[in-house]
Amino acid sequence: MKKVAVIVGSKSDREQMNKALETFDKLGVNYEFRVLSAHRDPEALHEFVASLEPSEYAAVIAGAGMAAALPGCVAAQTLLPVIGVPMKGGALNGVDALYSIVQMPKGVPVGSMAIGSSGAVNAALYAVRMMALTDDEARKKLEEYRESIKTA
Ligand code: RP5
Repeated sequence: MKKVAVIVGSKSDREQMNKALETFDKLGVNYEFRVLSAHRDPEALHEFVASLEPSEYAAVIAGAGMAAALPGCVAAQTLLPVIGVPMKGGALNGVDALYSIVQMPKGVPVGSMAIGSSGAVNAALYAVRMMALTDDEARKKLEEYRESIKTA
């Protein structure tokens, strides 16, 4: 199975994005996690995104708060699908990040999930659904997961 790259813009986003990582752990999906800021360290972000081979990675999850440029910056530098997760926090508590991520101008698409940890879980599941289009193992894991949440 392919891997998923997971990037957040700050250490302060880690707790919310942990829900995506826990979801991958539950499903047995491999990921690479990085804290890389689009505005504080664009060079390091570029270096990591440029290293993501489509033969190895199915998607990128990018979580950021406030002005939340990160998912769009990632999508500008790769043709892998990018799933944005608006992080809670700041004066507007994630609504600002939601608008930033969902309002990408045409030409550089970013999918957007819900704000916060629900969005993080769904970003992970959405990435596995992408994998499942061509990977039977991923599809089986999703079927098992769906069974497991029936009584949740
Ligand atoms: C964004 O600004 C980050 O994604 C984070 O959600 C928010 C605040 O970052 P810190 O000031 O906590 O590092 O770049």
